[in-house]
Amino acid sequence: MSDPTSAPAFTPRVFSGIQPSGGLTLGNYLGAMVKFVDMQDRGDFETVYCMVDLHAITAKLIEPATLAHNTRELCAGFIAAGIDPEKSILINQSQVPEHAQLGWIFNCVARMGWMDRMTQWKDKAGKDAERASLGLYAYPALMAADILVYHATHVPVGEDQMQHLELTRDIAAKFNHDYGVDFFPLTETVVEGAATRVMSLKDGTKKMSKSDPVDASRINLTDDADTIAKKFRKAKTDPEPLPGSLDGLSARPDVRNLVNIFAALEGTTPEAVLASREGGMLGHFKVELADLAVAKLAPISTEMARLMDDPAEIDRILARGAERAREITVPILQRTYEIVGLVGHAP
Ligand code: TYM
Repeated sequence: MSDPTSAPAFTPRVFSGIQPSGGLTLGNYLGAMVKFVDMQDRGDFETVYCMVDLHAITAKLIEPATLAHNTRELCAGFIAAGIDPEKSILINQSQVPEHAQLGWIFNCVARMGWMDRMTQWKDKAGKDAERASLGLYAYPALMAADILVYHATHVPVGEDQMQHLELTRDIAAKFNHDYGVDFFPLTETVVEGAATRVMSLKDGTKKMSKSDPVDASRINLTDDADTIAKKFRKAKTDPEPLPGSLDGLSARPDVRNLVNIFAALEGTTPEAVLASREGGMLGHFKVELADLAVAKLAPISTEMARLMDDPAEIDRILARGAERAREITVPILQRTYEIVGLVGHAP
């Protein structure tokens, strides 16, 4: 990652988001949240973290009460994982209307050909694209707006979001070029650590996902200790012992995934995990992994449950976050409108 102070024109600022479309998974936690907390605590950046509720309604109809519950639970998850609403700005997207407003401008900057190439669009719309929502198609333009309405310089994400972040840079560059300005930053993607792509516990070639119909394929942050232990015990592996180095795992994606998860939970590297365990049996490793996961995750799920007992406090935190966020987003949107030539938006 480059030195955050190397782009003097823009305040070093982190933005990232998670969809409240279901419960949080170990993939969200290791691929995203751990890095969110780390970047918050480093003190090099202003940090803004978001529950992207407008994105959550692009795929399929979510029961309104469920969406509201998921949004609050995700907020509880952020705080339980270590996001401090005083240090970071914590928001739900719909409470900061400038996201959607800039999203419209970007709908007019992004090209159909760019959107057609998005692999998540192709995966999610599948063969029946005619029945997919217009919102699902425009999803990445709104995502670019989420980031650029803060002039964010760094975006920590898991590997699956990299293409969307390339598109974000393309949109920023085209806007700057079309209007002859140097207004939006070319945001840097931060994909770091041992678990940038956590895989399904049932198929090491498939991403761990909250939308997988098989619950045993993932660890949910709300799972209790017994469930976590059972899911790791039953994770798909093979009968071979652990090798001493990563080369020995190139054709063993299921085991490689467990080693990555172990390293990420422990804050070490997959190489270090293997170095001290060469020849070890997987049955034993899975027990060790389950113990480590429970030790790390149980306090988070307990804290989430405690926070969920007071939803009014969560709503207050989000309202306050939106107020702070709008100190940044209102002037940036105003200036964007002015650049575009929309009347009545001079500061
Ligand atoms: P979402 O909600 O699918 O996932 C949130 C974050 O978790 C990461 N992630 C994973 N990382 C590693 N392994 C996995 N199995 C795994 N599953 C999920 C994702 O990479 C992501 O970082 N489009 C985004 C939400 C979004 C956003 C944004 C992100 C909207 N606007 C602006 C960053 C900046 C999404 O659907 O993430």
